[in-house]
Amino acid sequence: MSGSKTNGTVQLNEGSTNTELPMVEGTLGPKVIDIRKLYAQTGHFTYDPGFTSTASCDSAITYIDGDEGILMHRGYKIEELAAQSDFMEVCYLLLKGELPTSEEKAKFTKDITYHTMLHEQLIQFFRGFRRDAHPMAIMVGVVGALSAFYHDSTDIADPHQRMIASYRLIAKMPTIAAMAYKYSVGQPFIYPNNELSYAENFLHMTFSVPAETYKISPTLARAMDRIFILHADHEQNASTSTVRLAGSSGANPFACIAAGIACLWGPAHGGANEAVLTMLEEIGSVERVPEFIKKAKDKNDPFRLMGFGHRVYKNYDPRAKVMQQTCYEVLDELGIKDEPMLKLAMELERIALEDEYFIEKKLFPNVDFYSGIILKAMGFPTSMFTVLFALARTVGWVAQWNEMMEDPGQKIGRPRQLYTGKAQRPFVPLVKRK
Ligand code: CMC
Repeated sequence: MSGSKTNGTVQLNEGSTNTELPMVEGTLGPKVIDIRKLYAQTGHFTYDPGFTSTASCDSAITYIDGDEGILMHRGYKIEELAAQSDFMEVCYLLLKGELPTSEEKAKFTKDITYHTMLHEQLIQFFRGFRRDAHPMAIMVGVVGALSAFYHDSTDIADPHQRMIASYRLIAKMPTIAAMAYKYSVGQPFIYPNNELSYAENFLHMTFSVPAETYKISPTLARAMDRIFILHADHEQNASTSTVRLAGSSGANPFACIAAGIACLWGPAHGGANEAVLTMLEEIGSVERVPEFIKKAKDKNDPFRLMGFGHRVYKNYDPRAKVMQQTCYEVLDELGIKDEPMLKLAMELERIALEDEYFIEKKLFPNVDFYSGIILKAMGFPTSMFTVLFALARTVGWVAQWNEMMEDPGQKIGRPRQLYTGKAQRPFVPLVKRK
């Protein structure tokens, strides 16, 4: 474990047997108990469904202090990156560990831009989907299919091929996402324009049509870029862990990212921004907010306030604060400051933040609470929200996958279990079964 040191031990006492387990300290955050030899030494496994107390790997990419509401990439706070950097720079930082110089940034941007187009035959692939297919279903399928088109970057043992695959994934994701959208609305696909920035290009491919000139608003392009920055990585969340687990078996990077997209789709993870909008629509008016707050607090009601709570943040999600600011800028630019949905969201936020239940359980608005409102205002249908999350998170997945592949101690991920099924019993032939 590079960047960490052993610092102390913990004793495990079982009757007269004493087992000493090393404590390992990273740069920041809680120490971990190294239990890799636990089974060999004691014959026991640990039990931790949902990995609430388990560090699945060591990583130097992203640090979160959920109690303090801190998120940093490679040591830089997310608020600073969102205010002073851009998505290409953040991609470079996540992948390579340092902020780029001007020359490095120019070269990296050019390298990514070079890969924005899709193999023409891959474009035919879209036509196999039903028009009403959810764009996330298309994303899982098309991204998985990339491995059938780019054989020259699937040798995971070759660092150069790993880099090309990483660049391809970051570059092609906006093209695939925009095409998934165009397909669902029956409009022609728009090819990338490499004179535009990453965010501008995505807006262009999504919203322009061949019949008209599409003018990209700098405010909206900046907001889009910031949304990408805010979603770029979030350490070992469910989809990233899925990418790592898939990659641990030696699967190719396109297949691993498709697995990450599938995991992100769920409403408890990336699907939450879509669920926030659905929930706001269901609530409908400010007057009905107390009724839904009551439902969220009722233990017998499965309803939860979407966009509230987080497995790691037990404080305000720092991304949500930036997102709230961006939300105002976008609504201002579009002249829809009095958007009823936003008023409703604000009222929901105000009541929830004052409510004893939410205070006690440390349930704060998360990044998805505001992103849904911004994306809706920008003209994206709700079914595209998680797609945008996937697009932005691709760099994080790819950076984490590369880090794992470069780790000499990397092993296939293989959790254990606590078996609660039947003990051994004799087989009963069919004729004798009742
Ligand atoms: N509304 C009402 N009650 C809630 C909510 C909520 N949104 N979230 C958690 N709780 C309650 C939950 O019922 C539980 O109560 P009790 O202790 O009485 O059983 C307590 O708070 C702890 O919840 P938990 O489910 O044990 O917490 P978790 O860390 O497993 O879940 C979560 C985190 C994000 C899945 C959950 O807060 C949730 O379902 N939130 C709504 C969905 C959402 O917004 N998800 C986006 C997450 S951020 C984006 C991302 O990183 O992917």
